[in-house]
Amino acid sequence: MARERIISAESQGQEEQRFNYALRPRSFADYVGQESLIRKLSIAVQAARSRHEPMEHVLLHGPPGLGKTTLAHVIANEMGSVVHVTSGPALTKPADIVGILNRLSEGDVLFIDEIHRLNAVIEEYLYPAMEDFKVDITLDSGTHARSVTIPLPRFTLIGATTRIGLITGPMRSRFGLPLHLEFYSPESLEMILRANAALLGVEYEPPAIIEIAHRSRGTPRIANRLLRRVRDYALVEGKGKLTEPIVKSALALEGIDAQGLDELDRTFLRTLIEIYKGGPAGIEALAATIGEETDTLVDVVEPYLLQKGMVTRTRQGRRATRSAYEHLGFKWVPSSEPDESLF
Ligand SMILES: Nc1ncnc2c1ncn2[C@@H]1O[C@H](COP(=O)(O)OP(=O)(O)OP(=O)(O)O)[C@@H](O)[C@H]1O
Ligand SMILES: [Mg+2]
Repeated sequence: MARERIISAESQGQEEQRFNYALRPRSFADYVGQESLIRKLSIAVQAARSRHEPMEHVLLHGPPGLGKTTLAHVIANEMGSVVHVTSGPALTKPADIVGILNRLSEGDVLFIDEIHRLNAVIEEYLYPAMEDFKVDITLDSGTHARSVTIPLPRFTLIGATTRIGLITGPMRSRFGLPLHLEFYSPESLEMILRANAALLGVEYEPPAIIEIAHRSRGTPRIANRLLRRVRDYALVEGKGKLTEPIVKSALALEGIDAQGLDELDRTFLRTLIEIYKGGPAGIEALAATIGEETDTLVDVVEPYLLQKGMVTRTRQGRRATRSAYEHLGFKWVPSSEPDESLF
């Protein structure tokens, strides 16, 4: 099992973190879903191990809650390495990154979450560290300033980001293994939910789990959160056992509909349809109208609606599709403008 040294980690609430930590898969074998990504990773790990070398640098990208942090720990665990955890926004001065690099030992994993938020100065320090395992530091200042190169042990950098588009080209090109996480199928989520229900000692009828799996936006973190909500609801409103009616009423109370959309998803679609007549509308305009951060819409809301085929992204902006209209109970009016996304 990987030993972990936490340098910094933004908190999501301690109770949730403890809960999620207990439910985290620890090895490739335990990891449900992301089959092709897991296959690539396990080949890379086996090859590195047989060469007695650290693994290539890995860039994990995809929407929040799909398992990037979990995977970083799984990789380290499979390599038998120590993980050092930090994040883009936590590294503000050169001393922050130099300090971390200096604490690494041969074969360690350095996990940088939200790597798209690294500033340009820190990136410059990372390039030679990633490429040649060395770091250049400047000693003294003014006329006495001189640069010293410090060799580093060979380590593996694992970067995670929800926004691959914001990673600079030079940064991206230094990762040997860029990997995209996909939304999970309802079948994978079902497996995760069954395992977690067993871990929590929750009794269930199979249709109850299937229902939660279909309403979890393809995301294990959401599945786990809904499982907890439903478990509480079943204790208070039922006999503790998860049944389909219990799940349906518990999720209705959470504002999650039959397609797994939550209130913010529906607000996004409704705004696009009612205010912007189905689009095209720019994301900034939508964000301003809804009163939500653009980043939240781009990172959290849009990827799932795109995958569901409820929204398309065109050069002029976002458009609502027929299935969005129908899902929200609006009459579908085909737009007269040609849809760029068709070409
Ligand atoms: N394959 C999986 N099998 C079982 N549980 C999983 C799996 N992937 C993720 N999880 C669960 O989902 C939760 C969220 O995963 P994780 O924190 O790794 O997501 P993330 O991609 O790092 O999200 P963020 O972008 O918000 O940091 C974890 O606590 C873990 O319990
Ligand atoms: Mg994470």
